[in-house]
Amino acid sequence: MNKYFFLITLLLLVFLLTGWIYYVNSQSDQIEPVEKISAKWWGSAHADIEAEAFTHWSEDEPAIVPPTCAKCHSGQGFLDYVGQDGSAEFVVDEPAMIESVISCEICHNQQTTQLTSAVFPSGIEIDLDPNSALCASCHSGMGSSDSIPGRSEDVDVDEVIPEGSFINPHYAFAAATWLGSDAQGGYEYNQKTYVGKFEHAVGVQTCTQCHDPHSLHMNQPYTNTDLCSTCHSNVVDYSDYRDVYVDGVDYDTDGYTEGIYYEIEGVRGQLNRVMQIYAAEIIGQGIGWVDQYPYLFKDNDLDGTISEEERNFSNAYTQFTPRLMRTAYNLQFSIKDPAGYVHNGKYILQLLFDSIEDLASVVEFPFDYSQRP
Ligand code: HEC
Ligand code: HEC
Ligand code: HEC
Ligand code: HEC
Ligand code: HEC
Repeated sequence: MNKYFFLITLLLLVFLLTGWIYYVNSQSDQIEPVEKISAKWWGSAHADIEAEAFTHWSEDEPAIVPPTCAKCHSGQGFLDYVGQDGSAEFVVDEPAMIESVISCEICHNQQTTQLTSAVFPSGIEIDLDPNSALCASCHSGMGSSDSIPGRSEDVDVDEVIPEGSFINPHYAFAAATWLGSDAQGGYEYNQKTYVGKFEHAVGVQTCTQCHDPHSLHMNQPYTNTDLCSTCHSNVVDYSDYRDVYVDGVDYDTDGYTEGIYYEIEGVRGQLNRVMQIYAAEIIGQGIGWVDQYPYLFKDNDLDGTISEEERNFSNAYTQFTPRLMRTAYNLQFSIKDPAGYVHNGKYILQLLFDSIEDLASVVEFPFDYSQRP
């Protein structure tokens, strides 16, 4: 009897010990060793020294990043911007080095850790938590309602702008999407109202509550658990994000209630079509979009697509009216933050709806506006 009691106690002790070791290990997972952080960073876009974002100016003479681009495209430029190099704060005074990636010291220095706001191209400054202020300083885009001509009432919005070229909201402007009308990154129509910051839900309300600041991927609340699955039960991993919807509104009226990603895609397709109709009928020069700079090209044969021959810089679209310009801007705004559907899907939808309505006020295009979020 005593022998059994001894064995059972021993087994129990072994169980307790394994449990304790497991617990301690899982706790120490939370405090990341620097080697692990470095490995994550090395695998991230911020460390990619060969990326277009850090080499675009390599062929220039001299090969430097001009001050207007240096804040976001050169780590050295960002240190200049925040004043860590001893120069004035919130302005880039000098051109900066190419191939200067977003390394550890760009985010971890005295000046950047004190950031509490970010300034957007609209000129609006928004108070944010320090991590989001850091990310938003670079992921804010380069355009706003004010970049587009014709917002004032006394302009003929269907008259071609002489020597016009497409105004691009730029790239990866997650903060502008996320903050919506607070930052005014999209082209907002005077008579309409727009949603501001997407508040989402507790625990996913800042850049770094979702993004690991080093790998840039989504954080995992527990090992091998997707951040989103805790609330969106249809999510197992990244491949399911596009299927998330909450309201269940068929925004693009295709008869299916799909993930907000696909609803946006559907509405964007309609904007694309009404732009083509407007360009052909009102301007008399067909237009088409492809994912190649400068994005909008002349559709000379009016077949609704941009062929290989039409897809070259000398065939770039130039006959913009203010009406076409602002709707094209919003089309591009809905594309160039590829995660716009997560960052603030309703803002994107509002911009697309209003752009369709704008063009359909002068050309024939049936569309159901009652679903505008
Ligand atoms: C507010 C920050 C910001 C400013 C200012 C800025 N950019 Fe960018 N730019 C970005 C970000 C962020 C990306 C990253 C897009 C990506 O994910 O590849 C980018 C991407 C690019 C790309 C790559 C596009 C592609 O398709 O990969 C080019 C080229 C570029 N920028 C040119 C410029 C030029 C030229 C200027 C100055 C006139 C400039 N940028 C100013 C933030 C900025
Ligand atoms: C794009 C900006 C950025 C870069 C680049 C960056 N960090 Fe961080 N790092 C952050 C932010 C933001 C936090 C705070 C995270 C939080 O509040 O949860 C952080 C947190 C940390 C921490 C605290 C531990 C933790 O996990 O919270 C350490 C240590 C660290 N970084 C080291 C590094 C090292 C080493 C590098 C370079 C290999 C680096 N960081 C590059 C933004 C950055
Ligand atoms: C100094 C400017 C700067 C800061 C600060 C910055 N980024 Fe970036 N970020 C960039 C540039 C430039 C790129 C594009 C790099 C490339 O193409 O390799 C980029 C790329 C990214 C990407 C990948 C985009 C893609 O196309 O795959 C993510 C995600 C990202 N950043 C998130 C963040 C987050 C989150 C923060 C804050 C913790 C942050 N960034 C802070 C400039 C910045
Ligand atoms: C609700 C969580 C969430 C929040 C909050 C969030 N993001 Fe994202 N973000 C995502 C998801 C999901 C993706 C797509 C992930 C992927 O492609 O790997 C993404 C993608 C991105 C990209 C890459 C887009 C591309 O070019 O492919 C950038 C850059 C980015 N986010 C920056 C930010 C910044 C800056 C903030 C804060 C202003 C922010 N995000 C806030 C979830 C979030
Ligand atoms: C803490 C719970 C929670 C987490 C975690 C969470 N979400 Fe959400 N999500 C919500 C709620 C609540 C809404 C509705 C918010 C609203 O409409 O104001 C929502 C809305 C959305 C929407 C808009 C859907 C629509 O139909 O308008 C998308 C897309 C989305 N979430 C994606 C994600 C992704 C991707 C992640 C992970 C990176 C994530 N969410 C993490 C709770 C959460």
